[in-house]
Amino acid sequence: MNQITEKAFAKLNLSLDVTGLRPDGYHEMRTVMQTVTLWDEVTVRLVPDGAVSSRSNLHYLPNGGRNIACQAAEAFFLRAGIQNLGAQITLKKRVPVCAGMGGGSSDAAAVLRALNRLTGTGFSAAELEELGRGLGSDVPFCISGGASLGLGRGDALTPLPRLPACSIVICKPPFSISTPELFRLIDDRSSRAHPDTEGLIAALRAQELSGVARRMFNVFEDVLPRRFSAIKALKSQLLDLGALGAVMSGTGSALFGIFDDAYLAVKARETLRGKGRECHLAHPTERLA
Ligand code: C5P
Repeated sequence: MNQITEKAFAKLNLSLDVTGLRPDGYHEMRTVMQTVTLWDEVTVRLVPDGAVSSRSNLHYLPNGGRNIACQAAEAFFLRAGIQNLGAQITLKKRVPVCAGMGGGSSDAAAVLRALNRLTGTGFSAAELEELGRGLGSDVPFCISGGASLGLGRGDALTPLPRLPACSIVICKPPFSISTPELFRLIDDRSSRAHPDTEGLIAALRAQELSGVARRMFNVFEDVLPRRFSAIKALKSQLLDLGALGAVMSGTGSALFGIFDDAYLAVKARETLRGKGRECHLAHPTERLA
């Protein structure tokens, strides 16, 4: 076997709080994340020449060393002490790009999982998370997915029970939001609201979908510049269409609504798609074994 195709699941932030600024310039996070059944297909083929390369179905994505998937392969070979092998990575992207859904991070995590199996290296999930930490704050979570509380840079993980069965409508408007700009706006704001993270976790433990949905909150929504008012409008639409709760994921621009009624979710996606928006219907996924 010299080739594996892995699913790189999208992540959604059910709640997201920024609780401080760290000495390393990053921010202290308190976020509850969940992976969902929307994925990129990541094919990794081992090649004998020691080179790492990538290609994808999106012409505007960088390939090679500027793609986090290639960086993951380089980091893996270095840590595993493998010098004579390379990797050809093919990304079939379906997860919206620059959306706050961890698409690149999940691709990187999928490459680490694939190379671990292909080379028989046998790193544990914790060791792969440690490798992923050097690539990006969301990569460790994407190694196993499921649901987790993320503290620190978002990479100090505590596994949680999965979101109860539900339908999730995800909408990515036709614009992206700069992550560093949103963090700067958070830094400039002296007082602001915080999510009830503990209440949301308690509702997850009790498997109360409406209790989770009601508590979904992302602090970045409060500092969105006026030019992104389409996000507030989309959120209202999701709620009007029957979502139990709706929130932006990460630093956007994707947002999602949680539905306990599958029919309403299908209708909501039909209503919202178009106008350059990417709309998907998804469900929560289990933690990978
Ligand atoms: O770790 P990652 O490369 O995904 O982070 C992208 C950017 O997000 C960082 O350069 C930083 O501006 C911001 N960030 C942060 N604090 C975190 C995570 C990300 O300030 N905990």
